[in-house]
Amino acid sequence: MIKLGVNIDHIATLRQARREDFPSPVKAMAVCEKAGADSITTHLREDRRHIQDRDVFEIKEAMRTKLNFEMAACEEIVNIALKLQPYSVCIVPEKREEITTEGGLDVKGQKVHLAEVVKRLKDKGIIVSMFIDPVKEQIETCADIKADAVEIHTGKYANLFKISKENAAEELNNIKNAASLAKQCGLIFNAGHGLDYDNVFDICSIENLNELNIGFSIIARAVFDGLETAVFEMKKILSNY
Ligand code: PXP
Repeated sequence: MIKLGVNIDHIATLRQARREDFPSPVKAMAVCEKAGADSITTHLREDRRHIQDRDVFEIKEAMRTKLNFEMAACEEIVNIALKLQPYSVCIVPEKREEITTEGGLDVKGQKVHLAEVVKRLKDKGIIVSMFIDPVKEQIETCADIKADAVEIHTGKYANLFKISKENAAEELNNIKNAASLAKQCGLIFNAGHGLDYDNVFDICSIENLNELNIGFSIIARAVFDGLETAVFEMKKILSNY
């Protein structure tokens, strides 16, 4: 069975929009776990636009499943990861101006630096994954630097799928090839980004897929699955006056 990691950053995005203390990412984590999530993903960005330092420590403390900590390979965040001791980390590229993580990490281009970061994290018993595009050289370099896993960026596939399934066929094939190469290289194969309730099916049929990390579509769907109850409850209060 393919595992599901739920990315709960968007709960914190909503909270930060009002600088409030709700909705709580810790509460979101508990709901996701109750619903069967196999792991919880959070990305502590350098600009702290959503998840904050205290969130990740509180989530880690309260959770029953596994914390997958998304992070840039910079000194400040590496030190936080070493202190936090998540079950796994996923090293991602990070640009301040981007809306979300655009494109995969250039592992080949930063091989020496990333090899050192991987070693420091693995020495603490943390499983290390690399968020990359489905490109042969990148996968091979991940194996060279002794990463445990790759997470293939499915954002391009998701964008092409919006036009049509046929449009996304070639990228789907690239992801399938990436999965078999990862297996040959002894890497755990995960995937994520932009996956939703329509485009996830073909991705699920890929052999050797361990885990999908999905955030935005789940949180967006939760808004509508919960909005009716939320309005109803407020209306019920007002109706007594
Ligand atoms: N995996 C990684 C490495 C990501 O950076 C993200 C986005 O934060 C996701 C998965 C989840 O993407 P989405 O929110 O589009 O489902």
